[in-house]
Amino acid sequence: MELANKVAIVTGAASGLGMATARALAAGGARVVGFDRDEAKLKTLAAELGAGGLALNIDVTDEDSVREGVRKSVDAFGALHVAVNCAGVADAAKTLSKGEPFPLAVWNKVIAINLTGTFNVVRFAAQAMARNAPEGRDGERGVIVNTASGAAWQGQVGQAAYSASKAGVMGLTLPVARDLAPNGIRVVAIAPGLFETSMVAGMPENVSQSIIDRMILYPHRMGQAEEFASLVRHIVENSYFNATTLNLDAGARMQSR
Ligand SMILES: NC(=O)c1ccc[n+]([C@@H]2O[C@H](COP(=O)([O-])OP(=O)(O)OC[C@H]3O[C@@H](n4cnc5c(N)ncnc54)[C@H](O)[C@@H]3O)[C@@H](O)[C@H]2O)c1
Repeated sequence: MELANKVAIVTGAASGLGMATARALAAGGARVVGFDRDEAKLKTLAAELGAGGLALNIDVTDEDSVREGVRKSVDAFGALHVAVNCAGVADAAKTLSKGEPFPLAVWNKVIAINLTGTFNVVRFAAQAMARNAPEGRDGERGVIVNTASGAAWQGQVGQAAYSASKAGVMGLTLPVARDLAPNGIRVVAIAPGLFETSMVAGMPENVSQSIIDRMILYPHRMGQAEEFASLVRHIVENSYFNATTLNLDAGARMQSR
């Protein structure tokens, strides 16, 4: 799909991978609407996007909030063609810690934002995209990119909820792509390895360094958010990507720490 003059929603757009994606899509000529809950960072994003974009305080877990966010995007720019789900949290806990079981509130929060939130955006975005006129040789109407994680199949200690949420994101990719193929909408997931964002900034340096040294094949460093954003842009522009999860991880193979 041609990116220029299209309308794209990016969730988690106030930080990290989402912010880099919002910038890259805007640089490619798209109107970008960022969804996030961080008011202060949304202001920065709004200033950067200017009149060609919007930064909205939308909670991806909330049905009314996402319906309203999609409606505002279409009202502002006339349609919706691209949706990129980057909103996510990585709260961790052990299944059993000092005799206490994993707090269910943590489990529910992680699943609600990473998995249910992703699907909540997918379904409203698909509804708006299905109204587009088909474009080009393939009759495309929309592209959806979701963010899984290498943790979907190689989660670390404490990542039961996070890994389950990301395996869920991978799992829904094929059936949702099958559901939406008749509408001319593609669905692709990216499974990033370790990227340098605020999500990993809280990790002690010796832990992130040991992951880089022992588990990342080459190049020997964390990924940069711009590298993720560049893959999102390529997925949008390359119509032959569909119904798959792409690893973006420098060949990482996570082991037990
Ligand atoms: N950074 C990594 O190494 C890495 C690796 C694999 C996968 N991921 C995934 O990539 C995505 C982006 O992560 P990041 O590293 O940029 O993290 P980040 O913390 O920098 O950004 C996440 C953003 O999501 C927003 N958010 C949280 N809950 C929300 C909600 N309910 N509604 C709307 N927005 C909400 C936050 O406010 C934040 O701005 C996440 O899904 C994460 O799980 C990250």
